[in-house]
Amino acid sequence: MKETNETYGNVPASRTGIEITDAHRAFFKAIPKAELHCHLLGAVRHETFVALAQKSRAPIERAEIDAFYTRGDKPVGVLRVLRALDEYLLTGPDDLHRITYEYLEDAAAHNVRHAEFFWNPTGTVRVSKIEYGDAQAGIVQAIRDASRDFGMSARLIPSIDREADPDEAVALVEWMKAHCADEVAGIGIDYRENDRPPELFWKAYRNAREAGFRTTAHAGEFGMPWRNVETAIELLKVDRLDHGYTIVDNPALAAKYAASGIVFTVVPTNSYYLRTLPPEHWAERHPIRRMPELGLKIHPNTDDPTLHKVNPSEAWELMFSHFGFGLDDLRGFMINGIDGAWIDPATRETWRTSWLAEFDNLAKPLA
Ligand code: HPA
Ligand code: ZN
Repeated sequence: MKETNETYGNVPASRTGIEITDAHRAFFKAIPKAELHCHLLGAVRHETFVALAQKSRAPIERAEIDAFYTRGDKPVGVLRVLRALDEYLLTGPDDLHRITYEYLEDAAAHNVRHAEFFWNPTGTVRVSKIEYGDAQAGIVQAIRDASRDFGMSARLIPSIDREADPDEAVALVEWMKAHCADEVAGIGIDYRENDRPPELFWKAYRNAREAGFRTTAHAGEFGMPWRNVETAIELLKVDRLDHGYTIVDNPALAAKYAASGIVFTVVPTNSYYLRTLPPEHWAERHPIRRMPELGLKIHPNTDDPTLHKVNPSEAWELMFSHFGFGLDDLRGFMINGIDGAWIDPATRETWRTSWLAEFDNLAKPLA
């Protein structure tokens, strides 16, 4: 019988023997956080999904929606849920405003001070039939409203749907160039990596870089080979990398990226490893454990928080409770997040000082 942890859906219970106390939980919640890897459609509240389905009269049964939000032994694939949102639920910029504002409100409740989050415009424009400029404006307005109401900052990362034609990615960059806003920082790429390697999208990345956008890419997710990580870094020239776990299979290349200091955003609840690693060895064999041993700069994130049933505090907790990292390691991860964030140098310096002072103060009672 698989032992599960109620808090994070189907994540196996900790095997490290560390007892997590209320003081630990308060600490994980209180530390100032940057969140650099979260998908807007993977952060929709369950009740909002239901409300949007009612509003748009979507042909989705309540039981099916509830199944989307259940992470038992056989969770519905996250990517399918996201397609349903595009197809039936999002009908106008107000819907995008609502889900963005709610995501940021939920993140702020866990002391996320700065969020950089993904949104896939191709589905919004082609499937939901909302024009790019209108959709982006709804999200950007929500970022402004949230920063006023919750005292946080946030940046949008329009993300390439790699299952679509690479020319759609080029079109996406053109849309971004036509609708510049300070809150729109750069591009990413996500969705199913199998058979859709990064090199297919070289042109969109080149154009984005030439237009002054920052870049990141999902690579080495779903067990896809380290070569995709290498291609994303060397050919697409990304500023940071999302997931990247299979880099541990090539220690020489890992050493190179350790020396370059590129930041890897990692996701402790990534479903590929929950599905493929035996529960009793999940925490020991997870590649996230090995990445810092190889010198790589990692930073923990939620990815699809409402679907993975995880919040930002719990993502940090898992690094401690399941992957065996200590408080000093977490302190380093916090620095990595500040270093990897797409913020100006003065803000980076300020946060390095002030967030670390907060971290050290909060850590004192746990020492
Ligand atoms: N992988 C995992 N979760 C996601 C993705 C992805 O590519 N896109 C949106 N949520
Ligand atoms: Zn992701």
